[in-house]
Amino acid sequence: MQFSWKDTAKPIVALAPMAGVTDASYRQFIKLLSPETIVYTEFLSTDAIHFGAKKTLKMMSFDPELEHPFIVQVFGAEPEHFLTACKVIEQAGAAGIDINMGCPAARVVSSCHGSALIREPKLAQDIVAAAKKAVKIPVSVKTRLGWDRVDTLINFCKGLEEAGADALSIHGRRYCDKFTGKADWTPIYELKKEVNIPVIGNGDIMSAQDAVDRIGNLDGVMVGRGTFGNPWLMPDIVHALRNKNILSTVSTMTFADKVPQILQHCELAVRIKGEERAMLEMRRHFSSYVKGFDGAKELRVKLLTVTKLEDAAKLLSTVS
Ligand SMILES: Cc1cc2nc3c(=O)[nH]c(=O)nc-3n(C[C@H](O)[C@H](O)[C@H](O)COP(=O)(O)O)c2cc1C
Repeated sequence: MQFSWKDTAKPIVALAPMAGVTDASYRQFIKLLSPETIVYTEFLSTDAIHFGAKKTLKMMSFDPELEHPFIVQVFGAEPEHFLTACKVIEQAGAAGIDINMGCPAARVVSSCHGSALIREPKLAQDIVAAAKKAVKIPVSVKTRLGWDRVDTLINFCKGLEEAGADALSIHGRRYCDKFTGKADWTPIYELKKEVNIPVIGNGDIMSAQDAVDRIGNLDGVMVGRGTFGNPWLMPDIVHALRNKNILSTVSTMTFADKVPQILQHCELAVRIKGEERAMLEMRRHFSSYVKGFDGAKELRVKLLTVTKLEDAAKLLSTVS
């Protein structure tokens, strides 16, 4: 059945799209722990998809059963390229398309991509309209509170809704905040009162209690950095929001309890990317997983040189 943001189970719990993090192995690992979580790809260039760039097309690979509903996040500034790229994404079997209008990176913003679109509301609407015209699957937008003020949020988002956006996720920071300060969810609650599509809040959720405290009148929460080293946060949040019961699974686990699951993450990465690349890319995850016990620093340093899954397993099993 076709995925729909309106009909999907609420509250929505989503893993934030994160470049360099939410590749197929991370998404699948999170889905194994928390099947209710909605996952997104890293942001992919509509220009690259339009021109058939092989590397970008490969980043769209996913496991249709495990990752459903699978959302591909894209960025770009050329409505014509959205038309072709969105068709390719729909044909690849994605359940939805999310348009990035929030990335603050200089190289993205300088080409009028990402959060630069907040200052180009007409172009932002044209892009949503082009995506909607191209496909039948839902089209959502992820954006920030504003460029350097927050009072533009409601009009900007109403424009996106009019252009056909099926859902919005809002990171509670402005472009100019980048990742500094605390996320402000108040303007997101105000926005929800003004639009008729699902609104998901995002920013600084580090525990199930944070999710319960922040969800307010929103349709769901989206979590990024809180999952680093703590993928168990996602099932905890689903449980807290849907069953009204706060858990902190990670606080009940010894490092030895975590090892089989860390290895499962490694195994998924090896299966998808091959051992050499997978073990190289697992390094960033090892540094998040391996902390909080005597000898963690030494173990992290050793794991940085590992090129084989078997050697990582041996090193990780030395911690009791
Ligand atoms: C390493 C990293 C990569 C990110 N890449 C993307 C991206 O590709 N697309 C996007 O919309 N946001 C991206 N973000 C922003 C996150 O999706 C999210 O909005 C932000 O981290 C705030 O949520 P959090 O406090 O739960 O991490 C990225 C964030 C991080 C830390």
